[in-house]
Amino acid sequence: GTEPTSQTGTTGVHTPSRAAIPARHLRTDRWWLAPATTAAGLFAFIVYSTWRAFANADYYSAPYVSPFYSPCLAQNCHTMHGGPNWEIVGSWWGLSPALLILIFPLGFRLTCYYYRKAYYRGFWASPPACAVAEPHKKYTGETRFPLILQNIHRYFFYFAVLVAGVLTYDTALTFRDEHYAWGHMGLGTLVFLANIVLIWAYTLSCHSCRHIVGGRLRHFSKHPVRYRLWGWIGKLNERHMLLAWSSLISVALADFYVFLLASGAFADPRFF
Ligand code: FES
Repeated sequence: GTEPTSQTGTTGVHTPSRAAIPARHLRTDRWWLAPATTAAGLFAFIVYSTWRAFANADYYSAPYVSPFYSPCLAQNCHTMHGGPNWEIVGSWWGLSPALLILIFPLGFRLTCYYYRKAYYRGFWASPPACAVAEPHKKYTGETRFPLILQNIHRYFFYFAVLVAGVLTYDTALTFRDEHYAWGHMGLGTLVFLANIVLIWAYTLSCHSCRHIVGGRLRHFSKHPVRYRLWGWIGKLNERHMLLAWSSLISVALADFYVFLLASGAFADPRFF
């Protein structure tokens, strides 16, 4: 046991109304392992995705478009003739087209209930773990600006559904070959299929989704369809953390696979 780090203040665990325990915490297990691993994993993803988003290169190799760059909304997505290029933003946009779109999946994950827990613990130590007091003097939770903005999560969920729809479309297009003829299947098709399944599973397992589907009802008996959907989403929701991580890894892998193809590291193995 060590000295408490925050003795003062009118809120928190060291106030007069709480039991005075001199030890900083009473946990004897390696409670720091989970937040440390989480921080390392999130940091690795941030480094990778920042590099890829700003790279503005090697994101398309017909018929595959990197999920970091889709939907590709800028006119400077010109490497993609015949591919999924939406060109809504004019030629004035000179930066990486990924920067136009990544705000949506980024905002969805940043405001996600699971990721909030993960980075509050991993990066801010607020709190570091269950039954371990945080080093900060005061705890205001998410009641004030800026964290009160986390409530925007539901709206990011709506965008996430749209993005998942676009990625589904991209996955369908991977059944074409590099000349855009249908009836192709390569290793990349499997990579994209695995990714889109995980993206949908993560998106549908969202707590906001569960509430949209089954919340604010007085009687489940009067809403049998919503009740059934709510049950299914609940099953996914129990695995939200697992799906958050597996879809994070799969989306990075899908991007990395396209990077390898586009940079000429190897050719996509083809099944038919
Ligand atoms: Fe995690 Fe909505 S709560 S995505």
